[in-house]
Amino acid sequence: MDFLEQIDRDKLPQHVAIIMDGNGRWAKKQGLLRAAGHKRGTAGVKQAVEGCAELGIPFLTLYAFSTENWNRPKKEVDTLMNLLVSSLKKEILTLQDNDVSLHTIGNINTLPSKAQKELSEVIEKTKSNKRLRVTLALSYGGREEILKSLQEISVKVKNNIISPAEIDESLINNHLYTHDMPDVDLLIRTSGEQRVSNFLLWQIAYAEFYFTPVLWPDFKKEHLHDAIYNYQKRERRFGKTSEQIK
Ligand code: IPE
Ligand code: IPE
Ligand code: MG
Repeated sequence: MDFLEQIDRDKLPQHVAIIMDGNGRWAKKQGLLRAAGHKRGTAGVKQAVEGCAELGIPFLTLYAFSTENWNRPKKEVDTLMNLLVSSLKKEILTLQDNDVSLHTIGNINTLPSKAQKELSEVIEKTKSNKRLRVTLALSYGGREEILKSLQEISVKVKNNIISPAEIDESLINNHLYTHDMPDVDLLIRTSGEQRVSNFLLWQIAYAEFYFTPVLWPDFKKEHLHDAIYNYQKRERRFGKTSEQIK
C-alpha cells in the first residue's frame, strides 16, 4: 500500500535523514557478494532522492559511509569508493532533472582523491539547484563532528575571540558540518537495526525515529511515503504537555 495520497503536504518534515543499511544482508540473501548489495543500494538512493524531491522536502541527508566503516576489509572499502565515483557520474542528470543540489558532510579529505574530485565537480554543477538539498555523509561520525567543533571553539577562546560564557547551543551548532541546515525531523533506518551508529548525534535531539525491516537495496518511494505518513501521525511535544501544543 502506498500512503502518498494520505500525506499532508503542509506538514512535511523539513529534514529527513536516512541510515541506509542492509546492503550486505540483501546480497547474502540472493547468494551474491557484498559488493553486489552495495551496487543495488544505489537504486535505493535514487528512490529516496526522487521521492523527497517529488514531495517538496527541502533537506535529505544520507549516511553513506561512517568513520567506523574504514575498519571494513580494504576490498570492500575500495568497492564503496569506486561505486561512489561511478554513481556520481551516472546520476548527475537525475540530480539536474530533479533540481537537486549535492552537498557533503564528514571528513571528506580522507576520501580517495578521485572521489573528492568527482564530488566537487557534482557539487559545483548542481549548486544553484533549489528544490532539494541532498547531503551525503561520507567518512562521517557524529562524535568526530562534535570533537572538531570543540577544537575550533577552543582555539577561539584561547585567542580571546570569544569567552567561555559565550559558548551556547547556537555557537556549537554553527561549528558543525550541518551549520546551515535545520535539525533532523525524521530519521529513517532500514534493515531492522534499531541504533544510531554515530549518525548526526547533536542534530537528532528531537527527531522522530522510523525503523523498517526493508533492506536498503529494496527501498522504494512507497517506504518513504510510509515513513512520512507515520511521522505525521505522531505528536511532537518538545518537552511540553499535549495540551500546550494543541
Ligand atoms: C550499508 O549496508 C552500507 C554501508 C554501511 C556502507 P551494510 O554494508 O552495512 O549491510 P549489512 O549491515 O552488512 O547488511
Ligand atoms: C551505519 O551502518 C553506517 C552507514 C549506513 C553508512 P553500519 O552497518 O556501519 O552500522 P552498524 O555497524 O551496524 O552499527
Ligand atoms: Mg550494516
